[in-house]
Amino acid sequence: WTESEALGQSGEIIFTPEDREAGAPEQEIETAFINGRAPDERFHLRRDGSRFYVSGVMTLLKDTGGNVRGFAKIARDMTERIEAEKALRGKEMLQRIVGAQEDERKRIARNLHDELGQQLTALRLRLESIRKTCEDTELCGKIDETQMIAKSIDNGVDFLAWELRPAALDDLGLFAALDKYVKEWSHHSGVTAELLASKLKRIRFAPEVETNLYRITQEALNNAHKHASARRAEVMLEKRGEQIVLIIEDDGKGFDVKKKTNRSKGIGLIGMQERATLIGGTVEIESAAGRGTTIFVRVPAAPTKRRRSNEK
Ligand SMILES: Nc1ncnc2c1ncn2[C@@H]1O[C@H](COP(=O)(O)OP(=O)(O)OP(=O)(O)O)[C@@H](O)[C@H]1O
Ligand SMILES: [Mg+2]
Repeated sequence: WTESEALGQSGEIIFTPEDREAGAPEQEIETAFINGRAPDERFHLRRDGSRFYVSGVMTLLKDTGGNVRGFAKIARDMTERIEAEKALRGKEMLQRIVGAQEDERKRIARNLHDELGQQLTALRLRLESIRKTCEDTELCGKIDETQMIAKSIDNGVDFLAWELRPAALDDLGLFAALDKYVKEWSHHSGVTAELLASKLKRIRFAPEVETNLYRITQEALNNAHKHASARRAEVMLEKRGEQIVLIIEDDGKGFDVKKKTNRSKGIGLIGMQERATLIGGTVEIESAAGRGTTIFVRVPAAPTKRRRSNEK
């Protein structure tokens, strides 16, 4: 409002219709009249009808003789703080969801490995002892086949458990986990792949940094396999000053990064962005039709003391 627009008007003009309806202006005035002041936080209206959140105080104004002259309201625009709080709540929520997801994966991976794995081992031992006493050639052949199936299920369960949550990530760190992942991925996808990170072989980062960088790499490589028809992929992990830089590159068909439909097709790219934000980092994607895709992830490398896995 300009001064001339506001002068002579009722103070009610800055209240929202629902507050007016509920009698909020009168209540504020009444409280200020009785107590001398009426503090509150609420939405008010701008001239154009838009809303902004304020923290303010309505004060009773008296002249030197003690006669009531009117009321004054001083308010501070809290929009920025509210937005910041909202963003923080969003980030905390995301952190909790991603954390819960990792815990759940860990739990399932452990159960798969411990429960199913144990039973499969028992099964294989039984089959082995039956095979030793077997004399019928045809029956022996069938036991051999069954042993093969049991072995393949055992391998499958191990692979599933590892893919869900590799123990190396907790025990040996990002380099070891990535190294194994890149090799396995290359084997499964048939895409030649290499991890270049030898300088960081023995360096450990904060657990959430390691987990999120690992998951980003997983998604980027899976995209390279699923969408790019890539022949080669490279994963680079470096420390540049106080920054960890993760680069995942493929030589596939590329895509238009700016095109909204590409970004909203799945949840992979969005997830990468969210994971990077969670650890204070950024993601940058460079891609063009026929020229492959490069994903740069930069995160601060705050050195943190790691807990041992048996400490809580
Ligand atoms: N390396 C890549 N090469 C070529 N196209 C890609 C690459 N990465 C992503 N894209 C394109 O961007 C789109 C969005 O990727 P995103 O990972 O978000 O989703 P998605 O892989 O389709 O599904 P989701 O990851 O949810 O399973 C893909 O559908 C694909 O068209
Ligand atoms: Mg994807």
